[in-house]
Amino acid sequence: MISTLLWKDQAIYLLDQRLLPDQVSYVRCGAWEEVAEAIKGMVVRGAPAIGIAAAYGVALAARAGTNPREALVLVEQSILGLGQTRPTARNLFWAIERMKKLVESAPGNALLPELVLGEAEKIHAEDIATNKMIGEHGQAVIPDPARVLTHCNAGALATGGFGTALGVIRAAGLRGKRIEVIAGETRPLLQGARITAWELKEDGIPVTVIPDTAVGFLMSRGEVDVVIVGADRIAANGDTANKIGTYTIAVLAGHHRIPFYVAAPVSTIDISLKTGEEIPIEERGGEEVALCSGVRVVPNGVPTRNPAFDVTPGKLITAIVTERGIIRSPFTEGIVNIGIA
Ligand code: MRU
Repeated sequence: MISTLLWKDQAIYLLDQRLLPDQVSYVRCGAWEEVAEAIKGMVVRGAPAIGIAAAYGVALAARAGTNPREALVLVEQSILGLGQTRPTARNLFWAIERMKKLVESAPGNALLPELVLGEAEKIHAEDIATNKMIGEHGQAVIPDPARVLTHCNAGALATGGFGTALGVIRAAGLRGKRIEVIAGETRPLLQGARITAWELKEDGIPVTVIPDTAVGFLMSRGEVDVVIVGADRIAANGDTANKIGTYTIAVLAGHHRIPFYVAAPVSTIDISLKTGEEIPIEERGGEEVALCSGVRVVPNGVPTRNPAFDVTPGKLITAIVTERGIIRSPFTEGIVNIGIA
């Protein structure tokens, strides 16, 4: 399976997801500022992958210092800068907070650059193991056979590897379940059409891409058995921020009585936020809406809106699949019981 992120020759290489499916190439980031740019510009995307990239960004900052004191200053700057890239992705803040704690526990340590890089590599490796556990728990809720609708990309390319929602689909496939994936194209940036479809095709998992607007029609014809999506941030009551359009799918799933699952690591859960209303929602530039694959589709001068995420209320979610098990409603209690730090 292709790597989303690779540490090599004192730099982090990020698979350039803007160019998929036409081109498979990597962007080399040798400084934390380049990592921040890559996150903002969506070279790397998906909450867990953003968190891992940011951790490597902090490692690059530590390596740029010529002495422990300078390394510490640069690390602090990088933490501030990386934290200003994608506000909704909880894993970004979780990862940089973890790096910060490590740095604070080793003031003046000459080995700081090695310690920080080791921690980034650990976050990366743990994420892959976590996703495999999410897959194991989640595959149990996928029927056999199943037509599974997903949105955006919550796959290997949105994480350190294996994926969350697509990890569940992969694990079900590995168990011999007959799975067909329906991928919403996910306007404006087409992560479903470009990235999910590419990733699943590479893996030999059957996938059909539909316009986002076709979801209701397919559901009304009985052509969707189950929905599974990833998450950017989950509030303490289970309200879930994910790619714009997720909420619409959840409402439609509720109307058609189709189970709607969220798959995410515990690091996506933000218990400091009581409800989804408190989740910061990223608004991106209007050009992403006005242009489709570089071609203008909105008349010049017409305003656009581009909220990158929406919030699905917990009451529309059948269950949340984590590496520690499946949380069912009432989510507030379930989230506490699963032992979020
Ligand atoms: O804007 P993106 O492409 O970073 O949005 C990604 C998503 O919405 C994913 O579903 C989410 O981050 C979970 S990835 C495992």
